[in-house]
Amino acid sequence: MPTIAIVSQKGGSGKTTLTLHLATSAVYAGKQATIIDTDPQATAAAWGDWRGEFLPEVVTCPPVRLFSTVERARRGGAEVVVIDTPPHGDTASREAVRLADLVLIPTKARAFDLHALEATAGLMAYASKPAYVVFNAVPARASRMLEEAARSAQSLGLKVCPIHFGERAAFHRSSGTGEVATEIEPDGKAAGEVAALWAWVQTVLPA
Ligand SMILES: Nc1ncnc2c1ncn2[C@@H]1O[C@H](COP(=O)(O)OP(=O)(O)O)[C@@H](O)[C@H]1O
Ligand SMILES: [Mg+2]
Repeated sequence: MPTIAIVSQKGGSGKTTLTLHLATSAVYAGKQATIIDTDPQATAAAWGDWRGEFLPEVVTCPPVRLFSTVERARRGGAEVVVIDTPPHGDTASREAVRLADLVLIPTKARAFDLHALEATAGLMAYASKPAYVVFNAVPARASRMLEEAARSAQSLGLKVCPIHFGERAAFHRSSGTGEVATEIEPDGKAAGEVAALWAWVQTVLPA
C-alpha cells in the first residue's frame, strides 16, 4: 500500500492542496484512498467535512497515533494513503517520513520558501526515502525563477519533481467548497497539472 507523506516546514506552501489533489486522483483512478491529517489545524479534515459523502475518506490523528492510523487504513482496505502534515511539525513530519514510501515537499519558488527548504532538507538527510520538491503556485512565465529555485533545491541535496502546479484560482476555489480543481474545471490547466503529477507519482513509487 503506497504511503505518500507531504511535508514542508513552511506554512502555506501547498501541503494540504497537494494532499487533497493526489488522494482524489487516486479515487478517480479507482483506488481506495485515505487522507490522514496530522495538522492540529485540521484543514484537510475540514475539506472532508465540506465534501460530505464523496471520497476520499479523511481521518485525523495526532502524530503519536500515526503508525496505528496508517495500519488501520491498511486493514480497512486502503490502497493509497496520503499523509498531510503541519508546518513546523517536527514530530509529525518525522513520523510521516518514517512511514512513507515517497515524500513530496511542496514549495513556492520564492526566497523565503527556499530558505525554509533547508529545514526540510535536514529532515530528509538521514531518512533515505525517495523525496522530491514539488514547486507550487508558480506564476506564469516564471521559467527562469523555476530554474534558479530548482538549483537551490538540488544544492540542498533534494530532487525536483518535473511537474509543478501553477498559481491558479481553480486550486483555492475548489478547496473552499470541498472539491478539487479537476471537478470544478475538468479541462483547465490545474486539472492537467494534477493529472500529470498523478501519472508521474506512479513512475516513482517503489513497486
Ligand atoms: N497552486 C496554487 N494556486 C493558487 N492557490 C494555491 C495554490 N496552492 C495552494 N493555494 C492556496 O494557498 C493557500 C495555502 O495552501 P495550503 O495547501 O493550505 O498550504 P499548507 O497546507 O502548506 O499550509 C490556500 O488558500 C490554497 O488554496
Ligand atoms: Mg495545510
